[in-house]
Amino acid sequence: MSDDLLKYRPEFPILERTTYMISNSLGAMPRGVYEAMHDYAETWATRGVRAWEEHWWMLAAEVGNEIGSLMNAPQWCVSTHQNVTTCQAVIASCFDFSSKRNKVVYTDMNFPSVMYFWEAQQDTGARVRMVKTDDGITVPTQRLLDAIDEETLLVPVSHVIFRSAFINDAAAIVEKAHKVGALVVLDTFQSLGTVPIDVQALNVDFACGGVLKWLCGGPGVGYLYVRPDLGKKLKPRFTGWMAHENPFAFEIGATRYTDPPFRFMNGTPHIPSLEAARPGLKIINEIGVAQIRNKSQRQTARLIALADQHGWKINTPRDPEQRGGTVSIEIPDAQEVCRELLRRDVLVDYRPKAGVRLSPHFYNTDQELDNAIGVIGEILSERQLATG
Ligand SMILES: Cc1ncc(COP(=O)(O)O)c(C=O)c1O
Repeated sequence: MSDDLLKYRPEFPILERTTYMISNSLGAMPRGVYEAMHDYAETWATRGVRAWEEHWWMLAAEVGNEIGSLMNAPQWCVSTHQNVTTCQAVIASCFDFSSKRNKVVYTDMNFPSVMYFWEAQQDTGARVRMVKTDDGITVPTQRLLDAIDEETLLVPVSHVIFRSAFINDAAAIVEKAHKVGALVVLDTFQSLGTVPIDVQALNVDFACGGVLKWLCGGPGVGYLYVRPDLGKKLKPRFTGWMAHENPFAFEIGATRYTDPPFRFMNGTPHIPSLEAARPGLKIINEIGVAQIRNKSQRQTARLIALADQHGWKINTPRDPEQRGGTVSIEIPDAQEVCRELLRRDVLVDYRPKAGVRLSPHFYNTDQELDNAIGVIGEILSERQLATG
């Protein structure tokens, strides 16, 4: 079967040496990052402090636009930060948790860092309502919707669940939240770049994530989309000079907020990480997420079919419409098997209650999927023989 997307393989050096199936954790590095890092050093070395005015100051907002175009965000609505947890802090700092509307509602399938952050906000008056889920794979949507009530302020939920790749019903969550006057913070870390998202069609209030997984952008860049009308009103208390209307006046006293995206930023941005993020974003923007999604649905189905042949339990939805880019497979001694897979250059990961996670991306061949499953089978047979 011809696969147009395989033409991008030479752009990713690690594909020559490994079966790279771990894009849910760290996407493969595009070759262009070598040049981007060299250019960064050259700019610093030759332009010195002039680099801020010539290029660096706007970079945080420009990279925000490159991320925003993948989610159909209008220009200048996406600010960049270090990570998703920091994005939660920026959002939390826009609200007052001492009034009656102070509930924060999410499910126990959220990424733990996000939950740790909101649990800690209980000291500032936030009331956390964590909805329990049942099977470790899906989120019972109605149960989550029922928990969102008139006292709910924020609903910070993952779009795609990191353990199982279940796709939350973002449209239903936004609809219910808005009906009762609550706002949704959609964590699109595990969706943007592999599952299409349109923040304007969803009318979602906030969307956040990072570039290091499906966007092949490396560690250090988180992003925060804020709905344009909210963006003009909100005043983050976690703020700094980048958010000031006239940062270089170095005024004394309270800040005068500028417009988004700088309004949601604070101190000096992480220039090297922003530069490193660009080659991956360029490739994903060029391909388009719809094409990536088509291939991903086909390849994840293939992985499930191969795992079924071995009789392994699948901890991922079988319905392709409910499934993101990852297939989680439960196998005996999954953690040790995962270590052995890494030793044999099959790069995947292990997560408790998920098993081994395999995440093909646009650059993977079908043979690599077959190889990954084949090597898991080999390791399990060897272990069985060894233990008699
Ligand atoms: C859904 C989701 N949210 C957040 C994170 C990470 O959060 P942070 O960027 O704060 O490290 C991950 C990382 O694995 C994730 O899968």
